[in-house]
Amino acid sequence: MERKRNQSAHAVAHANFALVKYWGKRDVALNLPDVGSISITLEALWTKTRVTLDATLADDVFELDGRADADAARRVNGTLERMRKMAGVATRARIVSRNNFPTGAGLASSASGFAALVTALDCALDLGLAPERLSELARIGSGSAARSIYGGFAEMHKGTRPDGSDSVAYALHEPDFWPLEVAIAVSDRRRKSVGSTEGMLRTARTSPFYRAWVENQAADLDLARCAIAQRDFEALADVSEASALAMHGLAMSARPGLLYFNATTMECLHRIRALRESGIGVFFTVDAGPQVKAVCLPGHADKVADALADVAGVGDVLRSGLGRGAHCLPSGPAPDLGPA
Ligand code: DP6
Repeated sequence: MERKRNQSAHAVAHANFALVKYWGKRDVALNLPDVGSISITLEALWTKTRVTLDATLADDVFELDGRADADAARRVNGTLERMRKMAGVATRARIVSRNNFPTGAGLASSASGFAALVTALDCALDLGLAPERLSELARIGSGSAARSIYGGFAEMHKGTRPDGSDSVAYALHEPDFWPLEVAIAVSDRRRKSVGSTEGMLRTARTSPFYRAWVENQAADLDLARCAIAQRDFEALADVSEASALAMHGLAMSARPGLLYFNATTMECLHRIRALRESGIGVFFTVDAGPQVKAVCLPGHADKVADALADVAGVGDVLRSGLGRGAHCLPSGPAPDLGPA
């Protein structure tokens, strides 16, 4: 195998969260989802990753947020091996990655993390892969990462091929198509106790309602796709809240049941419903953690952020608009926390 020396690339990818949720796998080894999903990509939450191919290294080195991280290194190893093989390269890599938000707390760090990794590797290895192929590679690392390849609105396809080559995400619309704003109420920055992967497997194995969830998904995807295309906020609010609550209801029906909400989560959901009834354009969604994501019509996020900051137990309220897809950055110093 050819050995490339000290070739380096730096990429950024933004976190995304789903409006129609992914929860469940049809194949664990290839990480193929049992359901499609629709997401928005967030401008303010990102991972920056630098990959340096270094012929002097005996092993790959992985550093996350300034520290060597053995768990994360194991998780990225498969992606690294796969992409090196595609490039016909054996050189070991030093990977330095930073999140500008808490890791593993239900804020989609694995999504931006794997999207940034495959994008940086694509540049460092000179692969020049199409976005769908990057999405496929990101998906093998983490299902939600397949969507962070794109900005704005993206749809993940469940796919039907056994090799997973059609289980990839596609862009639906650019961020400026409908510049929704997001306020995220953070009530607990710790890592969640049961990760999404384990939670999904337990749910599929033990919930009596799992098949019904899978069968209903195509209808919700159609509703959300149409609502977005028509910029119909009420319709998008209905389907998004329904999908989030169905996912959590399903997770709660696993044995033992999965409880991602805390008391503050519940209070935020009530607050958001009350705001909507008073005429403010806002709806909620929640992932595998207690943070509440409020999606707002342009111009409505200030009021929503103020109301969420007032809820007992809310520490911070993060704000974001819709962001761009993953891309390589001009070469420079190691990833810092400067603007993406
Ligand atoms: C609740 O993508 O983290 O955020 O594929 O096992 O890595 P793995 O799971 P992951 O799950 C995300 C689940 C979710 C819903 C969503 O993002 O669609």
